[in-house]
Amino acid sequence: MAKANLRLLIISALICYNPVSSATFENVSVILTWRSGTQLQKNVTIRSDNTLRSHVGEFGEILIQNQNVPRLGENSISNLVKVTHLHLTNSKLREIKPGAFSNLPLLTDLNLSGNLLEEIPNGIFANLKFQTLYLDNNRISTIGDSAFNNLQMAYLFIDDNKISEWKSDWFSGTPLESVSMTNNHLKELPRLAFEFLWHLDPARDVILRNVALGYNGLQHVDPFAFEGIKMIFSLNLQNNLLTYLEPGLFDFTERIDLLDLSNNRITQLYFEAFRKTKVSQLNVHNNLIECISTDIFNTTELETVNVGSNPISCGCVKTWMEWYQRSEKPEVQNFNNVKKKCRSSSSGIRSSQVLFAFVFVYFLV
Ligand SMILES: *[C@@H]1O[C@H](CO)[C@@H](O)[C@H](O)[C@H]1NC(C)=O
Ligand SMILES: *[C@@H]1O[C@H](CO)[C@@H](O)[C@H](O)[C@H]1NC(C)=O
Ligand SMILES: *[C@@H]1O[C@H](CO)[C@@H](O)[C@H](O)[C@H]1NC(C)=O
Ligand SMILES: *[C@@H]1O[C@H](CO)[C@@H](O)[C@H](O)[C@H]1NC(C)=O
Repeated sequence: MAKANLRLLIISALICYNPVSSATFENVSVILTWRSGTQLQKNVTIRSDNTLRSHVGEFGEILIQNQNVPRLGENSISNLVKVTHLHLTNSKLREIKPGAFSNLPLLTDLNLSGNLLEEIPNGIFANLKFQTLYLDNNRISTIGDSAFNNLQMAYLFIDDNKISEWKSDWFSGTPLESVSMTNNHLKELPRLAFEFLWHLDPARDVILRNVALGYNGLQHVDPFAFEGIKMIFSLNLQNNLLTYLEPGLFDFTERIDLLDLSNNRITQLYFEAFRKTKVSQLNVHNNLIECISTDIFNTTELETVNVGSNPISCGCVKTWMEWYQRSEKPEVQNFNNVKKKCRSSSSGIRSSQVLFAFVFVYFLV
């Protein structure tokens, strides 16, 4: 009796021992490309993730798109020593277990966009050497405190998610100079937002290349958010709810090539936000600004400024006209339009007073 049971147990264990059983996805169609941008392609349907490796061979680029891959378990994508680009996109991916990606020594670009990821746990990218990571168009609301630590990632695209908080600690030890996090739920950019960059190489100037935080509902940028940042190529804060920039905000920043503040609710640009900074291009289109002080023109050495769709006052235009007697810059885009549309508040009051006097006199007579 006991012996028969044991035999049954052994037999069932043998039946269950089947490499496919550890697979986390099956019957997935994969396009393999010899190298990014070349024509040589192979389309294969892999029976299970366990067989991915044997199909990939010498191919450099793997494209898995519009498939059903809800989960990546340990070693699901592993030992692909020639792969430089891996796209697993629009494939209903919800969960990635630590160790899912391993031994991908040449991987430079990892594209996981258009999936259903809600969380980026710590450690799932450990030991990967990619420079560019695409996580846009997921449902990410939770990012582990060290999820992106000690990577080689320089570019992160994580737009169109549900992230509501920014943490410098996510990126400790990672040389991330460009991050695109538009259309998330950030309310604030906190103090020392880019502190992680200071510690990488204390001898080098800290540079931010592209930071895009538009369409977030940002209400506040902490006065020390950019502390330690020497240069910013492009800072895009468009389509948020900012009402002003804190005095001293850019005191550490010597140069900003492009600052986009368009479509916010800024009423006033304080000189003290720009007192130490050269800015080449400033876009404040569609805010509530009545004037930009020529002191800002002077210190920033602005090249171009877009002030369209702001209630620029005629008194302001007058100070600008005086400024242009001494200086040629900045180029105010559509300056003739701005002049035409300037809100002549004082003369507006005067004409209504004149009208009132007329009506008054008319009734007297
Ligand atoms: C995968 O394809 C095989 C052979 O066509 C089939 O037996 C199996 O049920 C398929 N698995 C899934 C999850 O569709
Ligand atoms: C692979 O499939 C794609 C569409 O999914 C098609 O455009 C392409 O021509 C196919 N390539 C090969 C080598 O069959
Ligand atoms: C990443 O995948 C998305 C969705 O398939 C695609 O639109 C995008 O072009 C890919 N990015 C790159 C750099 O290939
Ligand atoms: C800019 O400011 C400096 C210092 O206040 C002043 O000397 C200079 O004349 C100003 N430049 C213009 C064009 O007004």
